[in-house]
Amino acid sequence: MQAVGVIPSKKEVGVLEHSNPEIRHDDVVRVRCLEVGICGTDREICTFVYGQPPEGSEYLILGHESLGEVIDVGSAVKNIKVGDLVVPSVRRPCEHQDCQPCRAGLQDFCATGDFVERGIKARHGYMTEEYSEHEQFLYVAPKNLRDVAVLVEPLTIAEKAMAQVWLAQQRLPWVKNNPQGTPRGKGLKAVVLGAGPIGILGAMKMVSEGFDTYVYSRSRKPNPKAALVEAVGAKYISALDHTVDELVEMVGNIDLVYEAIGVSSVAYDVLRVLGNNGAFVFTGIPAPKPPIEVDADLIMRNVVLKNQVIIGSVNADAAAFEAALADLDVFVKRWPETIRAVITGRFSIDDCQSLLLDKAQGIKNVVSFT
Ligand code: BGC
Ligand code: ZN
Repeated sequence: MQAVGVIPSKKEVGVLEHSNPEIRHDDVVRVRCLEVGICGTDREICTFVYGQPPEGSEYLILGHESLGEVIDVGSAVKNIKVGDLVVPSVRRPCEHQDCQPCRAGLQDFCATGDFVERGIKARHGYMTEEYSEHEQFLYVAPKNLRDVAVLVEPLTIAEKAMAQVWLAQQRLPWVKNNPQGTPRGKGLKAVVLGAGPIGILGAMKMVSEGFDTYVYSRSRKPNPKAALVEAVGAKYISALDHTVDELVEMVGNIDLVYEAIGVSSVAYDVLRVLGNNGAFVFTGIPAPKPPIEVDADLIMRNVVLKNQVIIGSVNADAAAFEAALADLDVFVKRWPETIRAVITGRFSIDDCQSLLLDKAQGIKNVVSFT
């Protein structure tokens, strides 16, 4: 079977021969891969600073943003049938019996660090013709989402982040007691940092939650990313045209920052202007670089004097996958062309080297196995 992977010991990236997955447990589902999205994490693994092959394997099969079609189910599989479209999650629990999050199905909060992640850490990914997975880690996607469901996994990042934000902001009675039926972000201002796929999907999520949403990103308008952002009703502000101080003048009190840029200098510059009672969510994972200078006293004073919350959010739980599927359905109905335009290219696995190693092009590129 053909697959795309990395061999860290040889510093190689490309198409590999990978053996067929067999159903070894009754609760396992066999999946034919339809599409796999490529993200910054995959590109990073291809520079060999991140990622780890499974124990005993020389290579790691890449891919953690997948959409597949079920081709076989074990005898104990209850809710998934042959022909279903499925999206798998990424992280699998550690084996320590005393790891409370993992034992509770919240491996995104694994307390030992010994979790594994498919396509990233010690488990093969989905960039292969077929794969197997336990039923509990698969989410059925409705057929009307066939052409966009590969975006579910990157959308789960925003879903988990927002779940964390709302938990934190329960401390604000006027947010907590928002009248039933009003979107929770109504009257609040959100700034999304970065207009990559995570940023664009994040902006869609913020807009659909009712936030007055601004996307702050590098490139000048007009550009395709700015066009998508504005098509969903967010405002696009170029960092080349406007400083962070100008940004805050345009926005007013920033209630929420969703960082999806992975550039610490920009992130901390915006943290400096977070508003009263504001929440700042980090989702980017920058590669280690030399230290940068930040106005730490100012940030610390603000965090205290303005009752701010800083949240780090990684991976996603079952609730986030369910929410992403539900929201994707909302986005497809509300912005049918825009959500489809997030996927800017579908490629065969023969193009994988240039997709993974050359300068990133477009928005979300997808490897298609059909
Ligand atoms: C994935 C997450 C994962 C993280 C760190 C991201 O690209 O979407 O599922 O936890 O990388 O490995
Ligand atoms: Zn990813």
